[in-house]
Amino acid sequence: MTQDELKALVGQAALEHVVAGSVVGVGTGSTVNHFIDALAGMKDRIAGAVSSSVKSTERLRSHGIRVLDAADVERIPVYIDGADEIDHRGNMIKGGGAALTREKIVADLADRFVCIADESKLVDVLGAYPLPIEVIPMAAAQVMRRFASAYGAEATVRAGVVTDNGNLIVDVRGLRITDPAAMEVEVNQWPGVVCVGIFARHRA
Ligand code: 5RP
Repeated sequence: MTQDELKALVGQAALEHVVAGSVVGVGTGSTVNHFIDALAGMKDRIAGAVSSSVKSTERLRSHGIRVLDAADVERIPVYIDGADEIDHRGNMIKGGGAALTREKIVADLADRFVCIADESKLVDVLGAYPLPIEVIPMAAAQVMRRFASAYGAEATVRAGVVTDNGNLIVDVRGLRITDPAAMEVEVNQWPGVVCVGIFARHRA
């Protein structure tokens, strides 16, 4: 089976986690695109969706699925999204699609995070995939220098990418993230960091 066929399979399988009559949280990415296409088949049985990106919103709407503003939703039972890496405890690296901040906001609304990923995403230790960080442009150079001095890691600004929030993505290579929860808390506190792509507090 190709990787895209596997993504289509998990996108379809995710339907069993959607709670009928409720609002579903929808992530971003090629795996989620398959989920959105499958969700169209049950659109009359859900109250709508909260989306984590402009791209997912457009795809949901193209299927006639109602998209609600996150500000108008207090809680949702489930958030369904992909990952760039996931470890055996459900900690993830996310943000390959530059949507990590909105993804974490919607994940935070949800009682449960269901990660849909093919087996290539499963790792023992996070960090082989470059860790994405959304940063305010003014802070990008400072954040990159800090990764070099604190972690000996190489960080670069993702070329040509501006997030849905008008910020930049810094990708960090050469990390071995043995304590994802601690690193998530630490990096989130650096000035100018909007969101780090470690999902440990919101793990699957
Ligand atoms: C987007 C994400 C995606 O979930 C992640 O990049 C996985 O994408 P794909 O399903 O295309 O492999 O975090 O910001």
